[in-house]
Amino acid sequence: MLNFELYNPTNLIFGKGQIEKIANLIPAKAKILIAYGGGSIFKNGIYDQVKAVLQDRTVVEFGGIEPNPHYETLMKAVAVIKEQNIDFILAVGGGSVIDGVKFMSAAAHFEGNPMDILQKRLLIKDLSKVVPFGTVLTIPATGSEMNSGAVVTIEATQEKLSFGGSALFPKFSVCDPTVIHSLPKRQLQNGVVDAYTHVLEQYLTYPHDGFLQDRIAESILQTLIEIGPKVVEHPTDYALASNFMWSCTMALNGLIQKGVPSDWATHMIGHELTALFGIDHARTLAIIGPHLYQVMFETKKGKLAQYGKRIFNLSGTDDEIAQEAIHKTVDFFHIMGMQTQLSEYTKDFEKTANFIANRFEERGWKALGEKQNITLEKVREIVTASY
Ligand code: NZQ
Ligand code: ZN
Repeated sequence: MLNFELYNPTNLIFGKGQIEKIANLIPAKAKILIAYGGGSIFKNGIYDQVKAVLQDRTVVEFGGIEPNPHYETLMKAVAVIKEQNIDFILAVGGGSVIDGVKFMSAAAHFEGNPMDILQKRLLIKDLSKVVPFGTVLTIPATGSEMNSGAVVTIEATQEKLSFGGSALFPKFSVCDPTVIHSLPKRQLQNGVVDAYTHVLEQYLTYPHDGFLQDRIAESILQTLIEIGPKVVEHPTDYALASNFMWSCTMALNGLIQKGVPSDWATHMIGHELTALFGIDHARTLAIIGPHLYQVMFETKKGKLAQYGKRIFNLSGTDDEIAQEAIHKTVDFFHIMGMQTQLSEYTKDFEKTANFIANRFEERGWKALGEKQNITLEKVREIVTASY
């Protein structure tokens, strides 16, 4: 097992009726900015719940954070934080709002050009230079409620860039599974596939001796396979909703990544497809993941075989099981309402593959994946294969 440090200071408050606890979690004298997205919280009652709890507090609001939050929008919020001397931010939303708040938190007291946080992928480690924040999660998917990473899109350059650092863990996150009642089917499907792929990014590498990490990862995959299709049909079933929400958090709160190799190239390529074509984050992963496993078959086949045996109960030679495991993954994505070919979104494949590879080259991303053997040529191959 590789050496590791496990640091996760987020106070996770899970369950029905927990939103009222934010009253005691936000410092009493704080001037609070409530940040939210396009307005779903007004329709499903979450806004009213939050406002009721904070009725005696000094509160300013910033709404309109779009899915795949834009730097340009977030800088408007940063201006509000400065003008109003905000000292606590409450994110009420999904990955986009929470990630947006992580950026605001880092940018508000940043000395220099805040765009560097994204373009130079600066590590935000100094707690004295960030605005503390908490979250009320409204959609299970990203794990952003319990990790210190974020992804922000620069509209002007059509770049979707990730950043983070140990100062960007939420102080607390309230995860009430009943919030999923109002989610459209499409978003429920996205959540399952995003979380599933988060596990695969950290699991589908090569055989290693992080036995416990593998078993935890496999249990999350099995849970998502079991509940995923059902929760889309029955989001009001509390057993399904709570297991869905907890699986998503566990998939990317840092635990299963400790002491083991990880990949993340599916996400890196997928982010480009969102930036270029506006495809939902999870849906880009459903396109790229299986094709990446195919192109990188020789590197991944040991772990693909383990995955095939333990998750899908497959038998045969390791090569046969590994191949079949990729097919089974695609089948699961189809059950979850995903399209798995890029041609279902755009026909311009050669241009897209070259554009993405050239971008990676400019950023110096020439060796991705757990073995650093996903070269620019391989990136082209993966994108082209996905047509
Ligand atoms: O904006 P509103 O009106 O709130 O509507 C949202 C949005 O349209 C809606 N929604 C959220 N909660 C709802 C609801 N609708 C009805 N009822 C509710 N309870 O759902 C839509 C999608 O929301 P969004 O926050 O964009 O979804 P998600 O949580 O999937 O976040 C996606 C973003 O997170 C990034 C992605 O790249 C993308 O930008 N990621 C962040 C990660 C992280 N920080 O660790 C890791 C992930 O891999 C991912 O990259
Ligand atoms: Zn993701």
